[in-house]
Amino acid sequence: MKIDLLSPASFDGGQPHAQFDWLREHAPVYRHAEPDGPGFWAVTRYADVRSVGRDSATFSSEPTIMITDPTPESGFEFGDHKMMLMMDPPQHTEYRKLISREFTQAPAVAMTPWIDAFARDIVDAVIERGECDFVADIAGEMPSYVIARLMGLPLADGRKLYELTEIIHTAPEALPEGAQADAVRRMFEYGMGVIAEKRARPADDLASRLLHAEVDGKQLDDMDFLLFFLLLIDAGGDTTRNLVGAGMLALLEHPEQYALLKSDPERYLSAARDELLRWVSPVIYMRRTATRDTEIAGNPIAAGDKVVMYYGAANRDAEAFDRADGFDITRRPNRHLAFGGGTHICLGQHVARVEIDALLREVIARMPDLELAAEPEWLASNFISGPRTMPVRFRPGRRIATD
Ligand code: HEM
Repeated sequence: MKIDLLSPASFDGGQPHAQFDWLREHAPVYRHAEPDGPGFWAVTRYADVRSVGRDSATFSSEPTIMITDPTPESGFEFGDHKMMLMMDPPQHTEYRKLISREFTQAPAVAMTPWIDAFARDIVDAVIERGECDFVADIAGEMPSYVIARLMGLPLADGRKLYELTEIIHTAPEALPEGAQADAVRRMFEYGMGVIAEKRARPADDLASRLLHAEVDGKQLDDMDFLLFFLLLIDAGGDTTRNLVGAGMLALLEHPEQYALLKSDPERYLSAARDELLRWVSPVIYMRRTATRDTEIAGNPIAAGDKVVMYYGAANRDAEAFDRADGFDITRRPNRHLAFGGGTHICLGQHVARVEIDALLREVIARMPDLELAAEPEWLASNFISGPRTMPVRFRPGRRIATD
């Protein structure tokens, strides 16, 4: 079996399950070559992915969670400052504490009314046309509106920022030189405007609260704020979009499962949404770096080695899931790792669930006959999996919002 987990081509059309199946069976801790680097260990079994993710003392998130180390050209070097995603405890614990309360289940569930209203508006914007791009017009709108509202920004700005995120997550070789660094720079320029605005006129929003937050008795400085800002926009945007886009595609490809979901959405939605997360696993991987000589399932790992957890592979491991290759919207229990695990487990998972449910409910209710109008085109990325475009058609309907 030819193994190539670096080329975006391997992820064109979805995750490379034939490679993952082979790796789990024959080389679950596989030494993967890297043309411009030292190589990395690709970890594909559920139990190993889970235990690496939970052991941040041995498997560090520093210096980065991407396979490639940051370079000045990437725009991802920030001097002394780090993004929370790339910190280890105890520093990580201090930073995460600043916003973790706002993202627990109860506050996320309390967002349901306005997130549902966004879903209504998003479908309203296309329902009369009878056709749209499911990714840009439906799946992508929701996370950019939600993060804008949480941060206290105009909704249209959420959309612009989200376009920058997409550039940041695209494989550099698929972009003009310098495009990624430029996107980070533009994101920061916008973030500086937010700092000025929210310092002058603090409001009841996450951006204002972050600007007044303290770590070790010191207020966050501008760069700390910008990195939080970048992380929140980045982590919640195309992840959720890709889950909804690729998830809808999975439903269309399994019409009997989709029919079951449509037959009683309130009954099936919550298990179906978690099966979509397991099936799609929109975050392909997260990397760690070994802090000491160790082993994973008997394979020696040296201090400094890169260790990469493949969530999509873990989520199809027959040791962890009955009929792991079967798409089953009634699957319970479903302990998938799509949100990772351990200290960095997705902070936005409860919000993501509310967003996904709102969109699926609205689409099922108002576009029950939705179908593909052309083949989806996939994102050129080995990090985030999902369609870039997905033209669909449906019977036109009436707008329902009153304003
Ligand atoms: C389907 C949607 C989503 C998926 C699949 C997803 C996946 C993940 C994964 C795998 C991680 C773990 C990173 C690691 O272990 O190194 C993570 C972290 C994170 N996610 Fe999500 N995410 C989603 C949606 C969201 C949303 C909507 C938000 C915010 C509103 C968000 C915010 C974050 C943040 C801030 C972190 C970093 C947490 C930390 O470093 O402690 N995510 N996400």
